[in-house]
Order: sequence, then C-alpha cells, then structure tokens
Amino acid sequence: MSRPVSLLLLLSLLAIVPASLTRAQEAGLYEHFDVYDGDNFPRTEYANRRKQTLEKLKSGEGMLLRSAEVRNRSNDVDYEFRQRNNLLYLTGVTETQSALLLLPDGVEIDGKRIQEVLFVAERNPTHEIWEGIRMGPEVAAQVTGITTVLPYDKLAKRLEDLFPTLNKLYYDSWTIESIVDPVVEGEFNWPAIVRSILEESELDLEIEDAGTILNGMRAIKSEREIAMMQKAIDISAEGHREAMRMAKPGMFEYEFEASMEYAFRRLGAEDPGYPSIIGSGPNTCILHYNTNRRKSLDGELVLMDCGAEYHGYSADITRTFPVNGKFTPEQRAIYNLVLEAQTEAIKECKVGVQFWDPHKKAGQIISSGLVKLGIMKEGDDVRKYFMHGTSHFLGMDVHDVGDDYTLQPGMVLTVEPGIYIPEGSKCDPKWWNIGVRIEDDVLVTKSGSVNLSAGLERTADEIERLVGSKRK
Ligand code: GLY
Ligand code: MN
Ligand code: MN
Repeated sequence: MSRPVSLLLLLSLLAIVPASLTRAQEAGLYEHFDVYDGDNFPRTEYANRRKQTLEKLKSGEGMLLRSAEVRNRSNDVDYEFRQRNNLLYLTGVTETQSALLLLPDGVEIDGKRIQEVLFVAERNPTHEIWEGIRMGPEVAAQVTGITTVLPYDKLAKRLEDLFPTLNKLYYDSWTIESIVDPVVEGEFNWPAIVRSILEESELDLEIEDAGTILNGMRAIKSEREIAMMQKAIDISAEGHREAMRMAKPGMFEYEFEASMEYAFRRLGAEDPGYPSIIGSGPNTCILHYNTNRRKSLDGELVLMDCGAEYHGYSADITRTFPVNGKFTPEQRAIYNLVLEAQTEAIKECKVGVQFWDPHKKAGQIISSGLVKLGIMKEGDDVRKYFMHGTSHFLGMDVHDVGDDYTLQPGMVLTVEPGIYIPEGSKCDPKWWNIGVRIEDDVLVTKSGSVNLSAGLERTADEIERLVGSKRK
C-alpha cells in the first residue's frame, strides 16, 4: 500500500466514518483484540510474575520495561511487530508504545501508593482506521488486571519525577542503541531520552540489565508455559512431517519452507520463531543457512531447522532426510552417529547436571565415531566437523535467556548435535556435502529428561518411511 493513494482513501473515509467509535463498537471492544483467543495465560499468571519480580527488587530500586521498536523495512513498510519479551512476560501486552514500571516502594498516584504502572498509547480514531483498535488505558486495565494504566506519552514526565527518588533502575532496552540513527534523534529515541534525563539531572542512578532479575525467572518454565511450548512444538512437528511427506528430488528449498510454514500458520502459530533454515546438498553444511532458494537433487540430504512461535513461545526442531527417501550408506552412518550422540545427550539432561555436560557427552561420541569411520584421526579436534554447542535454552526467545546454569526442573533446552562435512574436507570425498543435525526440545524434570518433540519421527528408518509418503 503506498501512502499517497492511501492518504486519498483516508480522506474519503474520514468523510463517512464518525471521529469516534459507535457505542455498539465500544461494547464489542474486547472482541476486537484478536490476540486474546482464549488460549492466553490468565491474568493471574502475569500478576504472579510481577509479584515475584517486585519481591526481588529492593527499596529504592525500580524496573522499567519498554515495548519493542517498530522497525522500518523499506519506505512505507515496517517489519511485522513483535513485542519485547520481558514486557510480554510480565504483562501479556502485545501493543507498540507500551511500558511497565515496577516500584517496590510505590509511587503516589491519585493519593494511593502504586507499585505497578502500565503505560499504553491512548486510542486514536484516525490511527485506528489504519492499524485497528488499540486498548487505550481504560481497557488495558481490564485486559491486564493492572489497575493503574497511564497514557504512554506521560511516561517521560513520570520518569523525570521518579528518577531522583531511585538509586537503581533495571532496564532492558539497550539493544536499540545500535539501530537508532545517530544523526536524527527523533521523538522516540529512548536511549537519548533516558541518557539526557540522567546526564542533565546529574542523578546518581545506577542502571542495570533487567535480565539480572528476569532471566532466572524466565529460565524456569511454569506448567502453563510448558503447555504453551508443547503447542508450539506439536505445531512444528506437524510442519516437519508435512514437508517430509511432500519431498521429492528436484523440489526447491523454498517449497519445503512453504509446506512447513503453511502447517505452522494453519495450526494457529503466529510466526516462525526464527527464519526457517532449509538447506539441501552442500547447504546442509551451512549452520544457519536461510536463503532457501536452491533446487534439491536426487541423492542429496535436506536439513530443515524450523520452529513455530505460538503465543510468544518458540519451538526449535531440526530433521535431516534423504530427498529421494533412501539414505546412502555414508549418509546413514553419519545420521546414526548424530542420533546416538543426541540420544545419549538427552539422557544427560538431569537435575543438578551442568549446562555443558550434555555437550561434552555428544562431543565424545561424535569424536570417537568419526575416528572409527576414518573421517578424523585420533586426537583431531572434533570441532572441525561439529563446530557448535549442543544446547541452548528455549522459551520466548529461540536462544532463550541463560547459558551456564546447573539444570533444574522446569528448564527447557534443545539437544542438537550435528556433523558437517563440506566439500574439500580432508577425508574421503564420499563423505563430502553430508551435513546432519538432529534437534529436539527437552524438558528437565525431577525424574529425568522429557523429550517434548519425541512425537516427530527421528530414527533413520522412521524418516525413510515418512519421506515422500504423500507421493508413494
Ligand atoms: N534454530 C537455530 C538453532 O538451532 O540454534
Ligand atoms: Mn537450536
Ligand atoms: Mn534449530
């Protein structure tokens, strides 16, 4: 949609649409917030998270969490908006121009001491014609259960008054430093606003990353979060299955992507949790390849690393398969080695184990296996063919917060060993262009690891039965 034409359309609409919504539209307001589809967390889940956060903040401290920025794609078109996770985690609010202030000492508003203040943009009938209905402070209070909701454009003034009363602010919007135009400082240049308030007022206010408090909470998933992640994982597994069923030599990588993401969206996922990685042949050896334009050829492998995002939680699953439905002996040997490493590493994900222990286990198995196959010599560094970590935490971010924790019940992590042998590697060329990664999503429980993506075909035989089965 280009703006000049749109502007004309807007002007003609303004002539027939009343400046504010009708009473009937107001009555149905809640229904217009399609992001609330009945499968959201109840308000009590967010209230508990905020309560826990407030308990961790000391007197004289505060936390400010802001919404993500709207990022321009090109000219009149912005990237699809995705909320910043910490604000989403504590409020469920998916709107742009929103923020949460948490203050253990409270702030005086209308004669009351308030510990939680939400800021959302006020409703604007002109903008709503283009972008849909926003909550506005009044409805935001009903939707979130946060009783004090103020207009977003009052936030800067509030902070100005508040900062002198605080000695420490937990804040999480550092990353936008890198995307703000250093020449043009616009109205919403938040790092500049925060910095100028701090510098000009010569305040003695320590700023600390909000992750210091929130990462530990986000790392341990509640039962409801695990159920939400299971949905994202089940949707993703169906996408993988669907794409493998369709497979045949000559299919383009983007055709697998289309099949995968069609299932994601058909089953209700809002988006992929990260750009889908679909590599065929030599592209299986590129870890985060996502150009997805090559044509697959008979005899090649295809590696698909794809996960759906459902209500803010991402899955992360990889399967590798022979595009013609039959592994060559070399492909099968590498596949089985990665599978063994993964199976043993999954068993390793137990309470009390260090985050890097499953990786060590996978590395040992792959190292000795590659020596046995004659691909590596005794003592060679396995990182030549297995150059990434085996795990990362999974949750609202695909690479979720935390890395070197001791594993505890409620943590969810990926287990994803791989072997990548690009053309030109110092081994028999029969191994070249074989790249295999198998990735599943594992929950740590008191009674051991639970593979949440176990429902998806994984062994070489299961994969062979599935591939191309829509054609067979
Ligand atoms: N999907 C990216 C990764 O597995 O790390
Ligand atoms: Mn991963
Ligand atoms: Mn992955």
